[in-house]
Amino acid sequence: MAGYHEIRQLWQDDPIEFWRAAAKQIDWVSAPTAILDSSRAPIYRWYPDGVLNTCANALDRQVAAGRGDQVAIYYDSPLTDSKQAITYRELLDQVAVFAGGLASLGVQKGDRVLIYLPMVPQAAVAMLACARLGAVHSVVFGGFAAAELAARIDDAEPVVIVSASCGIEPGRIVEYQPIVEEAIKLATHKPTAVVVLQRPQSLAVLGEREVDWHDLIATATKHDCVPVHANDPLYILYTSGTTGKPKGVVRDNGGHGVAMAWSFTNVYGMGPGDVWWAASDVGWVVGHSYIVYAPLICGAATVMYEGKPVGTPDAGAFWRVIEEYRVNGLFVAPTAIRAIRREDAAGSHISQHDLRSLRTLFLAGERLDPSTYQWATDQLGIPVVDNWWQTESGWPIASNLRGFAPMPIKSGSPSVIVPGYDVQILDGQGKVVPPGTEGAIVIKLPMPPGTLPTLWGDDQRFIDSYLTVFPGYYTTGDGGYFDEDDYLHVMGRTDDVINVAGHRLSTGSMEAVVAANPMVAECAVIGVHDELKGQIPRAFVVLKAGVEVDPIDLRATIVAAVRDEIGPVAALKEVVIVPALPKTRSGKILRATMRSIADGREVVVPSTIEDVRVLEAITPLLSRDGADS
Ligand code: COA
Ligand code: AMP
Repeated sequence: MAGYHEIRQLWQDDPIEFWRAAAKQIDWVSAPTAILDSSRAPIYRWYPDGVLNTCANALDRQVAAGRGDQVAIYYDSPLTDSKQAITYRELLDQVAVFAGGLASLGVQKGDRVLIYLPMVPQAAVAMLACARLGAVHSVVFGGFAAAELAARIDDAEPVVIVSASCGIEPGRIVEYQPIVEEAIKLATHKPTAVVVLQRPQSLAVLGEREVDWHDLIATATKHDCVPVHANDPLYILYTSGTTGKPKGVVRDNGGHGVAMAWSFTNVYGMGPGDVWWAASDVGWVVGHSYIVYAPLICGAATVMYEGKPVGTPDAGAFWRVIEEYRVNGLFVAPTAIRAIRREDAAGSHISQHDLRSLRTLFLAGERLDPSTYQWATDQLGIPVVDNWWQTESGWPIASNLRGFAPMPIKSGSPSVIVPGYDVQILDGQGKVVPPGTEGAIVIKLPMPPGTLPTLWGDDQRFIDSYLTVFPGYYTTGDGGYFDEDDYLHVMGRTDDVINVAGHRLSTGSMEAVVAANPMVAECAVIGVHDELKGQIPRAFVVLKAGVEVDPIDLRATIVAAVRDEIGPVAALKEVVIVPALPKTRSGKILRATMRSIADGREVVVPSTIEDVRVLEAITPLLSRDGADS
């Protein structure tokens, strides 16, 4: 087996040949002759003259290769007490018919389709049907509220929305229909139709715009794959940025297909016939890349799980699924492992299950704390592999690559840089820092295939957001350092993005909601440490002069407003009233300094600070128990 250093050298010697060879892992209608188009740098395009269809790669070619009777999706839903095994042939049929249904509603190549569905197989069917038509899907996570949905409708301008009557959270049914209706009301753009999957747990009353999923497919005819250019968009996935307006990360078809095939094989060490489980949600990038596209493009079976790691029914839920489907690789956020550990520290559930099929546990989405790493390693006795990446990259930037001779694992590091990425650590002046010194983690351009080519409809915002701070580099927004073995250590975000239970959120958008409260003069929302979720948002508010309010009432009002405007996933539950916020002399709130204190990092008190006492007063409130002080 080749080693990591050999394969990295191969890429460094000739990146173009490297990605030309990798492109052979997928099927093309017309194979690319040009590999990289740099003519519009800093905007790059991979495989510019290639033509393909992503759905054909995920389904048609698997059936043609004899995988028709192999399971493509294991759906397992303890929340609805149901299970289903769908073969590649069945999935292809369902996707071709649903694509026909969408086409009958007027969806054509290049049109957008917004998908707002819970973790049901129909979410994958809808995504793949869009890919089949050359339409562009935009999946929105179910934990977002109507206003967030409306912002995405106005930006993506979908012809059709595909939704369900409800999602299910432990102990409550989330009615989707009123959220979608409210979002359409709020949005300026109006879709022509809303396809509704009726779930028996709660049926929606359908209006004029709504079409029942089952009625649609009853009359639909199967649709063939529509060839698209490699650079045509496959999907838009909105993610939190530093401002309230979400960023529409674009993924193309060609580079994405190659990156999915390459990473599933070489980073995750998985292949045809393997059973793979990414315990995330289709609304996040992990769901796009590693629940739906990569495993299917590689002919594996993917598990779609509608449930939580604990309480559905107990802390043994994950181990039961692994045993039942003989899962070979599990990918999950560390927070889920912490949730399990909290309920079953001794691992008694683990010992009740036969987990011999499980080769590797992959953890990503937030920093993997050493104690969680150690617990998982001790309990499972298999490699526990941290991998670092983001919505924008679409696939891992740093990992311990399982497709090559394994490298030593170091707790606290996602290991080494994945071939294709040229990662550097820069100081504030844009100079490369020596090993052991923390700085901004950046990626030298061009980034590899599958990474974002731009933001939807806004090349300038793409350039301003990512490519301007350090010209020639993509700014990841994370800070960290290389150690003496070239292992990367990711220390956390350096901007207004926080990670709550593996969910990426913008403190800026929460601040906008808090600041709209008529009693609030100014505010800052900072991510503070949380034992289970890694980080949670805490709002610091300064009241307007003369305002007197019961802190409990104010907290309830603000928590409800954030839940209504952004959604339950924002999980803002802590509000602290403070007499003042630390500021510079020019009146700018010292958010970066507050963040550093909350992260336990070294803080250099800025010389421009207005009043050091205000900073000293707020420091204890930024600790994990600070809301109780
Ligand atoms: N639809 C509607 N509401 C949702 C939702 C969805 N799809 N997902 C989460 N929510 C709600 C939750 O019910 C919760 O509501 P509550 O405040 O009424 O309790 C709120 O949003 C916050 O959710 P979360 O932060 O996930 O907390 P939790 O207590 O429900 O679960 C964990 C905690 C750790 C068990 C859970 O977050 C988890 O399993 N995370 C795994 C990480 C993951 O999937 N990451 C994706 C990237 S890898
Ligand atoms: P998302 O775009 O939702 O995937 O979130 C990406 C962000 O999550 C990154 O920029 C990091 O801040 C954080 N993140 C993801 N994986 C890791 C990891 N393995 N270690 C540390 N942080 C991570």
